[in-house]
Amino acid sequence: MHSQTLLVAALVAVAEARFGQEQIPVAAVAALTSRGNPGDAGTLSGQVPGVLLAGANACAKLSLADTIVTTLGSTPDVLAAAAALVAAEKNFNPFAVSVPSLCSDATLPVTEALRGIVPLVDPAVTGSSTENANSASSLLNPFVAQGLSVADVVAANGFTNFTTQAVDGSTGAAAASGVAVVASASASVSASASASAASAATTLVTSTVAVAASATASVAAAAGSGLAFGPAGAPTSSGAAGPIVNGVQQSTISGLNFGLCVPTMKFEAGLDGRKDTEFTFQAIDPLVNKGQEEALNPNIITKRISDQLTNVCNANQAAKDAATAAVAQISALGTKDQSTADAWNTALGFAGTNTNPDNAPQAGLIGHT
Ligand SMILES: *[C@@H]1O[C@H](CO)[C@@H](O)[C@H](O)[C@H]1NC(C)=O
Repeated sequence: MHSQTLLVAALVAVAEARFGQEQIPVAAVAALTSRGNPGDAGTLSGQVPGVLLAGANACAKLSLADTIVTTLGSTPDVLAAAAALVAAEKNFNPFAVSVPSLCSDATLPVTEALRGIVPLVDPAVTGSSTENANSASSLLNPFVAQGLSVADVVAANGFTNFTTQAVDGSTGAAAASGVAVVASASASVSASASASAASAATTLVTSTVAVAASATASVAAAAGSGLAFGPAGAPTSSGAAGPIVNGVQQSTISGLNFGLCVPTMKFEAGLDGRKDTEFTFQAIDPLVNKGQEEALNPNIITKRISDQLTNVCNANQAAKDAATAAVAQISALGTKDQSTADAWNTALGFAGTNTNPDNAPQAGLIGHT
């Protein structure tokens, strides 16, 4: 076989492998049969694959996400399905281009609760690991997005290997990484803070901004340091702790109720008789960690915490959903250090949690703050 034929065969295989992506949000939209008029959920779910095809305009999926919310109502289940569409990977034709295209229209999506969510991209694209971690964390803590297009938000948070596309189809190059967020962050903090009661639909975005805004007296300093949540969910501010209700610290993310538990994770040396230099992960709350050994693998602990929300904590569905998403986020990060525990705690609204509450020895721990 000619090498050219082999290359074409390989590209076809890649294109087919990625083609399953659009099925993910279809099912979530199709399941919303109790919303809107009979048949609406089916009709809308049938439109999902088309907007994720390579030939679709990059802004079309955002408009469809808005239509899903306006047609079916802005209830949590509808918003979650629409958010999944905003975060979904759109295919691109690997014969024609090597990078994805992202929408450059700053008015889309119109739905406040869907803004600041960034999409997955094909893992074959250089820089995709940053973007895919950002996408997972943005579903929990949307990025600052006021006045910014999805393309702007993506570039501001570290992924620039894409082409921009406007509603009229005109294309452009991505902005330089990190530029937009600093310019926009202070403006959107003051705007969001003063308008915080304006709309129920802003809950998610506003709560994210409010955490950042209250974390420091100096909004400008926060903006300069990256504000909100940086790439991969790394906490970029200490975060104001949530209130304590009935002796249980609450999440700072509005709508998340972890019931009897605080779902935070620690990263400490010397747990369970390990050496002073051997660090492992464990849930902090005794109600959560009961019956579970500490572990070198953070995914064991995140899964355990997530399970305990149902088993013993009596957490609400939003909290369980957030934990399920955070389990995936931590798994995608692939790290096993202090930043892993910080990312988990931040994702659930407990940024700034002391991950060494037992004052274990710090010897050999690099980068601990
Ligand atoms: C963008 O990703 C493609 C792979 O899809 C790669 O070939 C290219 O070098 C990347 N460009 C930059 C600027 O990283």
